[in-house]
This record gives sequence, structure tokens and C-alpha cells, in this order.
Amino acid sequence: MFLLRILGIFTIILSTKSEIVDFDDNNSEICYLCICNVDKTSVDCSRRGLTNLPAGLNSKVKKLNISNNEITLFPSSLSTLYNLVSLDISSNHISDIPENALQNLTLLEVLNLSRNNFETWISLNPNEILQQTPSLKILDLSHNKFKTLANLANQELLISPSLETLILDNCQIESIHGRSPLSGLINIRVFKINNNPLLRFQNLISPTLKSLYLSNCKLSYINPNELSYLPSLVYLKMSHNYRLEISSTVNTLSSVSLKYLDISYCNVIQPSLKGFPNLRKAIINHNMIRSLPSNEFINNTKLEYLDMSYNNIGSISSNTFRGLSSVKFLDLSWNEIAQIPENSLLEMPSLTQIKLARNYLTNVGHLKSTSLSIIDMSSCEINSIGKDSLEGLPSLIDIDLSHNLISRLPDSLSSNTLKYLNLNFNRLSYIGNYTFFMLPRLTGLGVVGNRFTIIWSRFYFQSNPYLENLDLTDNMWRCDCLDENMFDFYEYVTLEPNKKEESYNLMCHSPLDVVGQTWLEACYFTWNPSERTTNATNLIWFIIVMIVGLALCLVLVNGIKSSMNRRLATIQAERERQVEEARDRLRQLRIRAEQEALCNTPDPRDLIAPPTYDEALSMPKLNVSCHSLNETGSGKSRKKRGRRKTKSSGDLLEETERDGDIEDLELTETSVDSRRRCRRRSRKYGSHEIAELDQSPGVRRRLMSDHDNESDNVTVQVEAELERPQRPRNRRHSVTEVPRESNF
Ligand SMILES: *[C@@H]1O[C@H](CO)[C@@H](O)[C@H](O)[C@H]1NC(C)=O
Ligand SMILES: *[C@@H]1O[C@H](CO)[C@@H](O)[C@H](O)[C@H]1NC(C)=O
Ligand SMILES: *[C@@H]1O[C@H](CO)[C@@H](O)[C@H](O)[C@H]1NC(C)=O
Ligand SMILES: *[C@@H]1O[C@H](CO)[C@@H](O)[C@H](O)[C@H]1NC(C)=O
Ligand SMILES: *[C@@H]1O[C@H](CO)[C@@H](O)[C@H](O)[C@H]1NC(C)=O
Ligand SMILES: *[C@@H]1O[C@H](CO)[C@@H](O)[C@H](O)[C@H]1NC(C)=O
Repeated sequence: MFLLRILGIFTIILSTKSEIVDFDDNNSEICYLCICNVDKTSVDCSRRGLTNLPAGLNSKVKKLNISNNEITLFPSSLSTLYNLVSLDISSNHISDIPENALQNLTLLEVLNLSRNNFETWISLNPNEILQQTPSLKILDLSHNKFKTLANLANQELLISPSLETLILDNCQIESIHGRSPLSGLINIRVFKINNNPLLRFQNLISPTLKSLYLSNCKLSYINPNELSYLPSLVYLKMSHNYRLEISSTVNTLSSVSLKYLDISYCNVIQPSLKGFPNLRKAIINHNMIRSLPSNEFINNTKLEYLDMSYNNIGSISSNTFRGLSSVKFLDLSWNEIAQIPENSLLEMPSLTQIKLARNYLTNVGHLKSTSLSIIDMSSCEINSIGKDSLEGLPSLIDIDLSHNLISRLPDSLSSNTLKYLNLNFNRLSYIGNYTFFMLPRLTGLGVVGNRFTIIWSRFYFQSNPYLENLDLTDNMWRCDCLDENMFDFYEYVTLEPNKKEESYNLMCHSPLDVVGQTWLEACYFTWNPSERTTNATNLIWFIIVMIVGLALCLVLVNGIKSSMNRRLATIQAERERQVEEARDRLRQLRIRAEQEALCNTPDPRDLIAPPTYDEALSMPKLNVSCHSLNETGSGKSRKKRGRRKTKSSGDLLEETERDGDIEDLELTETSVDSRRRCRRRSRKYGSHEIAELDQSPGVRRRLMSDHDNESDNVTVQVEAELERPQRPRNRRHSVTEVPRESNF
């Protein structure tokens, strides 16, 4: 009963689990194919080679990306994704959208249909399609081939009460005229139509449009009143319309609302901004402006930022800038200005920064501006600067005069406010006590890449208490180390906490022996005479330490060597002792064997018929017995009847030494072995040495003819016991290899 219940619970768990798995399966299937976010509200199925909407999309999805696929028909099942907010179907092959394609997508805000195959407006069903998406804000139709926005019929008009941004970049549109394409978009704010071969631009009417992008559009002509149809226009970008000529007579546009205008890379001959009284930022760089006549900006009182760089402006009249009462930033770099009329900047009471780099200015002149604080006059051809040049600039903080031809600074160049003076890459070779005398606020001074040779003095900066930064790199300093001033100035420049320059930037250029060295390297020993001696003692100490170290090393090596030798010697001695022992034993054995042989040799007398009793009686009496003779020889009471003669003990020694396991002879013998040996010893001839030498399997007995030096040609019969286990030495050979008799 209990078991059954457990089983029941089990099945319930299993079934619920399988349900969950089912549910998950559908979702994870899509997330296996596509990339989902954690809560699966964002699904990215881009670049999957899909031809239709992937199966298993959940209605929870808010963001769907099916771009870069092979979809040709607008997926009808999209209308089940009620919660969709962003839909990206760009880069597919869709050429039309059915009327009710976006039905139910009431939350959709972004629809990207860019890079598809739309060619006609009607194929979009533009009247109906967007009405089903009351929240749509952004529609991207770029990179399609609509070709025109001209004379649109009623049914070709996009109608959406909510759309704010319409993107029609790269749509091969050649013309906008006739009925305004924006007339059905009552809430439109941003219209982008960049990169179209737009030759005609007319009747773009929208009371709400704020931003219009018309860059790179081949425009050449715009009706003067064209912008008046766009009363809310704030931002107009028309750059890269190379044929768009704008001058005081041609294309003089006007817009009361416009605040931002970009007409860079066009054919602007005169800025002609009079029609934009509320303009804040004007970008007119890379154009053809040659001159700026008087009162050119008289109506642009709100302009704050004016960029007219990269033009051909050669002349400026003294009231050119009249009216620019709000301008803060003026860029006139990369022009051909040779002269700035003294009072011209005074017309801009808010000007704080002016860029005049890359012009033909030959002197700094006597600029006057009460507000100007940053001036860039780099890369001009300035060769002189008057001592009162900066006096008309009571707010000047930073002036960049780098990359000019200035060879001399006047004494007492004066400015009460100047902090940063950049004179890098000029031709300066001299400054003196009074050069910076009148620049009390000077904080940073750069003279990189000039021609100074004589080392400066700290007195040059006596009246510059705020000096923090000196950039002296790349000059031709002549290093006279004995000159006290050099050391003094070096300290002044590099000593913390008022360090002004890195010491590695101070390089000697002469005399010859120190070229390329830093001041410190060149003059180290001159400036630190004590260092030299300490250095010498240091060297001596170093040498001593080295010698001691070497000696210690040698001793150590010798010690190791001798200890190793000692070890080797003990091993050798041990080996010799063992050999000696073996030899001894052999000798004893031989002696014993000889004696036994002697004893066992049949007495030649035995070969004769025994004497008769009478003869015996007449024989001399024998004093000592054979056995007692044997005993005196061995000193032990072992009985040996056999006598063997194999190889000489010397041969055996050689053999055992060669095999390197002399220890095997005795040392590694197990107790079993020794027991056996004992047993054998008690037998007839059983010395294990004999056995060892006679262990050829299969041979139980053999006859050995023995040539003994001492006994003459005695044949001994040796009975060798062969039950001994094989020696380790033999184990080294393969099992089949049996020791041959010739080995011995
Ligand atoms: C999962 O998909 C199958 C068909 O593939 C469908 O029958 C089933 O209802 C789906 N389950 C859920 C929870 O969506
Ligand atoms: C969709 O995917 C494409 C390609 O991966 C990517 O470039 C694009 O930004 C994605 N769109 C959105 C809205 O995230
Ligand atoms: C969604 O659209 C279908 C037709 O495709 C319609 O039958 C259904 O009522 C709509 N659902 C909602 C919630 O609007
Ligand atoms: C639409 O898709 C294109 C191509 O994938 C992309 O470049 C563009 O930024 C997208 N538009 C929007 C509004 O996200
Ligand atoms: C200058 O701006 C005013 C509006 O501030 C405008 O009425 C006037 O026509 C403009 N002048 C020119 C020459 O466009
Ligand atoms: C610069 O001033 C210092 C200190 O006032 C003075 O010793 C030195 O002679 C002056 N150098 C010149 C060239 O006037």
C-alpha cells in the first residue's frame, strides 16, 4: 500500500516535470536556434538563413531581430507577437507588405525595413500599414529602391499619427516635389534622406519637422523660401552637396527656427547666414569662402559656434564679425588669412576661443578682445611678436604659437593673465632675465624644438612664481659642466617638489664628447665629485666581494668533489674487500679441495696387492692420519671429500667484477639460500661456489679434468648439486638462454 502511494507521487512528479519540459522545449528550441536574453523577451535570429519566422516564438517577445535572412514574404505570424516593441527585418528580400501585416502590434515602436526590395510606395500599403501600429515611432526604409518622392498619389502616402522618425537614406530618390511626402505624418520630427541623388527638393511641408538630413544629395538649388514650409525646423544638415552654391544672391535660405546648420563640404562662397537669426551653431568648413565682407553675420546675434575652417578666406574686414555677440568659438584655421584687423575681434564680446592655425599670418599683431582666453596661431608664418602683442587681450590664458618662425622674443612680453605659452618648434635661441618678466601668471612654457644653446638661468623666472611646467626637449644645449649656473638651473628644473621638466628631456648637443647624453649623465662626476671616490671604493668593494665569492665557490666545489671522491673510495674499498673475501674463500676452498684430493687419491700402494700380514708387520708405522691433516688445513671440521678445480679465483673475480654484482655472491643471498647452503655443506661436496660454477641445468654430474699446479694430473670426480635457484645475474638473461659451460 505504502509503496503504491510512493509510486503515485512519483508519477505525478514525473508528469508535471514532463509538462514543464514540453513548455520549455518550445522556447528553448527557438533559443537554441537564435540568441535570447535571460527572460526571453529579446530574440536575435539574425544571420540564420531563415526564409520565414522561426517556429516557437513566444508572444512574450518584445524585441525581435530577424535581419540578414532570406525572407521574401512578410511573415504573417508576426501579428501574434502582441508585445513586440522593436522589429528588425532589415537585410531580407521583402518587396511588399500585406495590408494587415502589422495587425495587433499595438506596442511596436521601431520597425526596420532597411535593405529590402521595396521599389514602389504602393507595395508598402502605406495608407493602412502604419495605422495598425499606433505606437510606431521609428520607421527605417533605407537602402530600398523607391527612386522618387515626387507627386505621390494619395494612396502612396505614409499615414501614421505617431511616427516621429522616417529614414529614407540610400533610396535612389531623385526628386521631392508635388504633394509633400510628410503630409500623412502629422507627428514627424526627424526626416533623413541622406545619400540620395536628389536633384530637386521642393514642397517638403511639415509643421512638426525638427531635423532634416540632406547630406550627400547632389543638391544644387534650393528655393529661398523652401525652409519656410518647415516652421519647426531646428537642425539642418546639408553637408557634402558639392554643387550646392550658396552666396549672397544664390540659395539664400532663411529659417527663423533653425538653430543648427551644417553646410560643410558644399560650394559656399559666402556664409549668407542672415536668414537664420536664431542660429546657434554653424558649420561651414571645407567650402569656397574667399572673403568675409563687412556685416556678414549682422543678423546672427545668437550664434555661439562658427566653424569656417578649410576655406580660402584671405581677407577679413574690421566689422566682419559685427553682430556675433554670442559667439564663443570661432574656427578660421586652414585659411589664407594674412592679417586680422586689430579691432575685428572686439565685435565678438563673448568670444573665448579662436583658431587661426594654418594661415598666412606673419606676426601676432595687436589683437584686442576682452573675452578671448585661448588663441591658436600655430603653423602660420609668424616671425615676430611685439612686446605689447598680448596687451589687448586681458583674458588671455593660453596662446599656441608653435610651428612658426619666431626667432626672438621681445623683452617684457606682457600679459597679466597668460598661463600657457607654447613656443614649440620655432627658431628661438635666446631669452634673458627680462623675457618673461611681465608674465606673472606663467604656468607652462614650451620651447621644444628650438635652438637654445646657452643654458638658462633660474633668474629668467624670478617673476614667474607659478611656473610649473617647462618643456625644454629637443634643443641644442651646450653642456659646460663646470659652469655653476648649469647645475643650478638643472636643480631648479628637476628638483622636487617644484619639478618642471623630466631630467631625461635635457640633452646635451655639444661639446662633442657629451653629445646625446643627458645633462646629468654628462656632468654627473663634475656635480658629484665625492661620488667619484665613493664610486672607486665601491668598485674596490665590488671586486673584493667578487673575489671572496669566487673563492667560496671554489671551496664549495672542491668540498663536493672530495666528498664524492671519498664516497667513491669507500665504495671501491668495500668492493675490494668483498673481492678479497671471495678470493680468500676460494683460496681456502682450493686448499681444502687439494687436501681432500690428496687424501682421497687412492694410495698408489692400494693399487698394489695388500701386503700380507707378515709384510705389514715389517712395514714402518704411520704417525698422522689423513683426516687430521685436512683439519689442520681448514681450521674447521667441515668434511670435504670432493675436490674441484674450475677456473682460477682470479677468473672468477674478473667475471664477477665485470658483471658488477659481486654482492650477489653473498650479500643478496636470502636466508633460504643460506639454509640450503648449510644443508649442502653438510653433504658431500656442497659449497655453493662450486654449485654456482657448475649450475648448468641438465648436468648432474660431470667429470672435470684438472690441471693443478701443485698436484700432478689428478682427475677428480665432482658431484655438483644443481638445485640452487638461479642467480640474479642469470635472471638478467632471457629465460631460454642457459649458461653454457664455455662461460666458465
Ligand atoms: C510546443 O510546440 C508544439 C508543436 O511543436 C505544440 O503542440 C505545443 O502546444 C507547444 N507547447 C507550448 C507550451 O507552447
Ligand atoms: C540585428 O542584428 C544585426 C546583425 O546581427 C545587427 O547589426 C543589428 O544591430 C540588430 N538589430 C537590432 C535592433 O539590434
Ligand atoms: C489579432 O489579429 C487576429 C487576426 O489576425 C484577430 O483575429 C485577433 O482578434 C487579434 N487579436 C487582438 C488581441 O487584437
Ligand atoms: C536598421 O537596420 C540597418 C541595417 O541592419 C541598420 O544599419 C540601421 O541602423 C537600422 N535602423 C535602426 C533605426 O535601428
Ligand atoms: C534678420 O533677422 C530678423 C529677425 O530677427 C529678420 O526679421 C530679418 O529679416 C533678418 N535680416 C535679414 C537680412 O534676413
Ligand atoms: C640676471 O639676473 C641675475 C640676478 O638678478 C644677475 O645676477 C644676472 O647678472 C642677470 N643677468 C643679466 C644678463 O642681466
